[in-house]
Amino acid sequence: MAEDKTIVESEAPVRVKPLPLEFPGVHYYDDQEIEAALRVLRSRSLFRYYGIDLQKETEKFEEEFARAVGARYALAVASGTSALSVALSALGVGPGQEVIVPAYMWVSVVAAVVNQGAIPVLGDIDDTFCLDPRDVERKITPRTVGIILVHMSGAPGDAKAIRKIAKDKNVFLLEDCAQCNGGSIGGQKVGTFGDMGIFSFQMNKNMSSGEGGCVVTNDAQLYRRAFACHDLGYARDENGRLVFNDPTLCLWGRGCRMDELRAAILRVQLEKLPTIISAMRRSKYRIRQALERFPEVQLRKIQDPLGDTGCFLITTYRDADTARRVNRMLRAEGIVTSPQGVSNVVMTEWGLHLYYNNVSLLQRTSADRGGFPWKLPENAGLERNYAKGACPVADGLFERSILLPIPSCLTDQDEREIIQAFEKTLRSCL
Ligand SMILES: Cc1ncc(COP(=O)(O)O)c(C=O)c1O
Repeated sequence: MAEDKTIVESEAPVRVKPLPLEFPGVHYYDDQEIEAALRVLRSRSLFRYYGIDLQKETEKFEEEFARAVGARYALAVASGTSALSVALSALGVGPGQEVIVPAYMWVSVVAAVVNQGAIPVLGDIDDTFCLDPRDVERKITPRTVGIILVHMSGAPGDAKAIRKIAKDKNVFLLEDCAQCNGGSIGGQKVGTFGDMGIFSFQMNKNMSSGEGGCVVTNDAQLYRRAFACHDLGYARDENGRLVFNDPTLCLWGRGCRMDELRAAILRVQLEKLPTIISAMRRSKYRIRQALERFPEVQLRKIQDPLGDTGCFLITTYRDADTARRVNRMLRAEGIVTSPQGVSNVVMTEWGLHLYYNNVSLLQRTSADRGGFPWKLPENAGLERNYAKGACPVADGLFERSILLPIPSCLTDQDEREIIQAFEKTLRSCL
């Protein structure tokens, strides 16, 4: 259905000033991040394995991040996208294999599977907006090797139920925590439920160094394989020199190392992460509480509010038309960011997060001329449907739901105005 772009105006909008842009971690940048960056620049040692006066920022960050998440190993990498590829390489994913990915995700997830030569299989979502364990079970075939659970829009998916399925079916579980850094279920941090977890520190994440990522695991051999794959394909000794004496670690590198500058900034951001999250969570739950007075508005199912990182509010309406009208009126009441930000949208407008908006997936495109990976003989018979309609629960939720990012720097007045705008809109629309 074509999106209704009718402009609605309000005679006396609740807000006139745009809401702040998202970028949760960046709002908390101050002299500490600047000092950390300068420390590395002054050392003239920006490479993690050797330098004039190496500070070992990356190594320290990995130790601190592993401790914060509760994982034995953390490997800092250049981005969340490369973290996914490194993790799938460590897990041995390749042609002839299927990996289950959610209908609501980010393009990097499916790209990582395709780049390994494997076939992505879509799993539908439920009212957590993450993978529905029942659909995961239905989608498992003898060719399934793993499940990627993406903890979307700030709150964890049902990691315990999906971990049980993965164990029963003897397939791996990789958690993508890019949008849920610091999230937890019953006190256990996301990233530690499966075999491996990945994180992103890109600009719009709960903590950020502009770009960056991390892979975590409790498994020593998976860590060693991930290490080799993220670098030049080989292990390194304690002095950072490449070593070639372990035949299980003569692999192929992806060249996506973290650098000292970003690691130093991330160490500061990691200390601030609990504060950043609690600010977003406080704002979000104040708004959610106000919305509870409107039984017609369905609030996203949150498994454990204490483990919600709070960076997005998702509300669902009885039908697509109501969702569109509510969204238009909210925007007319001033619930928008500056044009640079995508904020307060009906979810059908949420770009490459929706499986059916991913043109490369729909058209099964290839970077090479041979049709990789779709036409590989190993993948014969593994064709899947990626067109709209493949995941009906997700399709319905996308049309009926509105996504509102919750910036980490909302003032008391911002929160009150968001609530007022919702109240005014809902009284007139429902
Ligand atoms: C769910 C998810 N996975 C992976 C990524 C990729 O992270 P990066 O942008 O750091 O490559 C993102 C980033 O937007 C994401 O949202």
